[in-house]
Amino acid sequence: GENMLWGGRFTGGLDPLMVQYNESIFFDKVLHKQDILGSIAFARANCKNGILTREEFEAIEQGLWQVEKEWEEGTFNIISGVDEDIHTANERRLGEIIGKNIAGKLHTGRSRNEQIACDMRMWLRDELRKIEAHLVSFLQVTAARAEKEMDHVMPGYTHLQRAQPIRWSHWMLSYGFAFAADLERLREVIKRVNRSPLGCGALAGNPFHIDREAMAAELGFEGLLWNSMGGVADRDFVTETLQWGAMLMQHVSRWAEDLIIYSAAEFGFVRLADAYSTGSSLMPQKKNPDSLELLRGKSGRAFGHMAGFMMTQKGLPSTYNKDLQESVEPMLDHVKTVADSIQIAEGVLATMETRPDKMRAALDPFMLATDVADYLVRKGVPFRETHHISGRCVALSEQTGIPMNLLTYEQLKGIDERFDEDIAETFDYEKSVEMRSAQGGTSRATVLEQIKVLREMLA
Ligand code: ARG
Repeated sequence: GENMLWGGRFTGGLDPLMVQYNESIFFDKVLHKQDILGSIAFARANCKNGILTREEFEAIEQGLWQVEKEWEEGTFNIISGVDEDIHTANERRLGEIIGKNIAGKLHTGRSRNEQIACDMRMWLRDELRKIEAHLVSFLQVTAARAEKEMDHVMPGYTHLQRAQPIRWSHWMLSYGFAFAADLERLREVIKRVNRSPLGCGALAGNPFHIDREAMAAELGFEGLLWNSMGGVADRDFVTETLQWGAMLMQHVSRWAEDLIIYSAAEFGFVRLADAYSTGSSLMPQKKNPDSLELLRGKSGRAFGHMAGFMMTQKGLPSTYNKDLQESVEPMLDHVKTVADSIQIAEGVLATMETRPDKMRAALDPFMLATDVADYLVRKGVPFRETHHISGRCVALSEQTGIPMNLLTYEQLKGIDERFDEDIAETFDYEKSVEMRSAQGGTSRATVLEQIKVLREMLA
């Protein structure tokens, strides 16, 4: 311990396994740029309040850019066992470049507790904005495809049993709106991520009148965290991101599951592009929807990070505890999983072939049984009665093996004399779909309206 930046009070060395156990440099090094920017803002503020002279600030700023250059060029040499985390590594290197006398002033009034929170928030804010763009792009593909493939009519399912005919576009938009709600939530999350903890100190605040507003503005934050104890302890911005992404991945997973089913030969509604499928090492004929299976599978990982990190935090006493270091890896992994998954989903959707003939072939006349009941409703018969009458038509069809739409007019009349010859027009899938014309339904006009509403949500 005595060699570390914090080693003044220590006389003994750390247990070698403890050194490894404690160090976070091998994952938090991805925050190098945020750490450098945060340090420059902090030094500038400490110059403004007289802690650093102009010359000292300039030396620190130049030195920090030099350190950043080494990270970017891949020449930064991490000293294992010394560079505990990204903050100590950068400060150690700064000292070597500009001398310890000046570098040693950088950390005046500052704690790594505020520093790590600051770095993570900046990094996450930027990544979430990229994810927002991926999500918008995915939804644009959804809307475009829904517009283009409006004429495809397919079975809609409940309990995975054929239920009523729907437009394929209606299916796509059903998930589209779930993802659009994810987009709305994401925009809310970003606001809370993007608040500055800088100037909170270790827990009690900064004793040198540091200009927190100026540092926040320099770093692109949209506001401050208003309590220094909360500011260093708060990982709700990570939890909220994990929860947000878990719900998104739940949507992704169900979307993928539907498409896995639709791509099976027994359905055959869709065919994945080669770019998103793989073969079997044994069975030459196989083309497997691995992309969709991974989307489904990776949702478990997202839920795991969410539950795991909430577990980490429960029961922590107030302000900073080292347990919080366990927030970094789930955040990094989760952001990658979510960002990659949205892009893969978009790729799958953009390149997938649809088979409207197969969709149509999967429709069967029983899916119009509700329409038969609705036909009699329009003749003034109470729905509970029409439901029963239509059920008897289904039963007759099943008993005789005659498809419901081919039952003769006399057979139908025999079940209920209120059937007229115009019942024949009911056995039309396109018509059935067009009847659902109240807002949010599967008719052409209402699907077009959905596309318009969805697009507005992307702006
Ligand atoms: N590496 C730490 C983290 O990720 C930040 C350092 C704070 N450490 C400390 N002993 N106060 O949370």
